[in-house]
Amino acid sequence: METVIGKDIVIAKQILDAGDLVAIPTETVYGLAANALNEDAVLKIFKAKNRPQFNPLIIHLPIWRAAEKYVTEIPAVVNELAMHFSPGPITFLLPKKSIVPDLVTAGSNKVAIRIPAHPLSMQLLKTLDYPVAAPSANPFGYVSPTMAQHVYDGLKGKIPYILDGGACNIGVESTIVDFENGDVIIRRNGGIIKEMIEEVTGKPVLVFTEATDHPVAPGQLKSHYATTTPLYVGDKKLLKKQFSGKKIIELGFGVDSSSEGYNLSIASNADEAAKNIFSFLRRADNEQADVIITGLLPGIGLGRAVNDRLLRAQHNMKD
Ligand code: TXA
Ligand code: MG
Repeated sequence: METVIGKDIVIAKQILDAGDLVAIPTETVYGLAANALNEDAVLKIFKAKNRPQFNPLIIHLPIWRAAEKYVTEIPAVVNELAMHFSPGPITFLLPKKSIVPDLVTAGSNKVAIRIPAHPLSMQLLKTLDYPVAAPSANPFGYVSPTMAQHVYDGLKGKIPYILDGGACNIGVESTIVDFENGDVIIRRNGGIIKEMIEEVTGKPVLVFTEATDHPVAPGQLKSHYATTTPLYVGDKKLLKKQFSGKKIIELGFGVDSSSEGYNLSIASNADEAAKNIFSFLRRADNEQADVIITGLLPGIGLGRAVNDRLLRAQHNMKD
């Protein structure tokens, strides 16, 4: 199959209508989209990504109002959060209606819903009479794509079309938010940080994003976003000693003279680091080094989402 990169939403719609896959830009990362109500189309996502079917998919809509077609109830706090943050990097887990195939939710009675904030994809979604299921558009387990070229590198020959919307603005995935017994629970740290949610809800938000091999809510796989070159996260001085004599590539943050080429943000800005993280991991991975080493960012703001991705990308966490 020839994979075309283009900017034509009419072609993208035709392909999706025909039950095939289109990679779409969002503000977080590129998604691999299919008609969420067509099981054969959704199956193609799992196949192209080589993704296990126990891992459910987020459905994407052009406007929050459309969510009611796919969920049985929307708690008031969810409407409130959606007013503040949708379109944007936040995903809501809500009880699904039967119109949503079990394949999309991996058998769960909750469906993940997100309104992505990207003009081109927004235009495309508005022309469709179904939501699209879309995981990140990378082979399962590898680094997420933040440019059309990244999608091409990973999935060429497996998908017909990549809608090119430029580089992703946020650079890490959406925050996944769950609701149980009146509590708001973050299942994945992402583009909307905990404090922003708490400001809206007026009470503490629980965070349950533990790394595990057998996730209660999938999406918490211990090894994910992984480079082919082993990545080690820790004290870089010690890591350098440990790997002396090997070819080492360093990722840096802040004034960190020894990692100029791969400095996530010289200005120590976590938002800038989030925008760069997946792109720099890919570049570092292409250097044919023996190891990639990095420290963690301060655990505030988007630093938490970046650290989460780094820790899951770490090879020595793979059992
Ligand atoms: O920013 C994003 O969320 C991007 C863009 C493309 O929208 N999408 C994304 O999809 O990151 P994916 O599939 O790479 O990650 C979604 C995570 C998965 O780890 C999945 O397990 C979790 O969301 N998830 C999806 N549906 C779920 C459900 N019904 N219950 C629990 N977790 C769910
Ligand atoms: Mg992903």
